[in-house]
Amino acid sequence: MERLQKYMARCGVASRRRSEEYISLGRVKVNGVVITQMGYKVSNDDVVTFDGKQLFIQENKYYVMNKPRFIISTSDDEKGRKTIISILPEELQKYRLFSVGRLDYDTKGVLLLTNDGEFANNLVGPDSHIEKEYIVRVKGIVTKEELRKLALGVTLKDGYVTRKCKTYLSSIDYENQSCSIGIILQEGKYHQVKNMVSAIGHPAKRLTRIRFGCITLDGLAEGEVRQLTPHEIKVLLNDAKFDHEQVPKKVRIYS
Ligand code: URA
Repeated sequence: MERLQKYMARCGVASRRRSEEYISLGRVKVNGVVITQMGYKVSNDDVVTFDGKQLFIQENKYYVMNKPRFIISTSDDEKGRKTIISILPEELQKYRLFSVGRLDYDTKGVLLLTNDGEFANNLVGPDSHIEKEYIVRVKGIVTKEELRKLALGVTLKDGYVTRKCKTYLSSIDYENQSCSIGIILQEGKYHQVKNMVSAIGHPAKRLTRIRFGCITLDGLAEGEVRQLTPHEIKVLLNDAKFDHEQVPKKVRIYS
């Protein structure tokens, strides 16, 4: 017997956390009965449906996509916009893939896709320490002091104080009075990078995620996907457990 949300994750519905949301919304039935109770347990003999479709435990699949801008990170969109699933090659459409975390509609870059909810949970759950590296083009020229502020933690509009991170200056465009900075985070709050640069007075113009743990955009054109290797999967899961902040090293400022 196992918890319903764990079973759903193994069937490739979504991560355990998102599966819990679906359960509380009444979208899941066990043997024809809607279950909204969180600790509910099922066995392999139970018939579990999600939005009316029966679930089956699936072979696990792992991919990385170079997500283009103006593509939504969910599998469907009520506004009819293109989604990461709609741009997948035909032969991958059958796997019930979903993204590991999300990128904003106008953010491009590294996005992992899987049908393994446990894997997704380990990488983006609250205990994950995986590093995510972003290049953000911002309005104005960011000073060394502002980079330091970002690295030490800034207070966002909602009062949240960001954790220590690594920052560096990537390029400066004096003519257009803008610059690109690198930010390496171990957390991932909603719109975090955009909100962080706004907090230091430099609104974001363009955002790209260039790395998720050990996975970069190397060899991937925009919109392309490739399968992760077993070694990459192992390294990702291992990296998620390793708190880079605990490394006895000063906060690094590159400029
Ligand atoms: N931070 C943001 O602001 N947006 C993203 O898409 C990812 C991180």
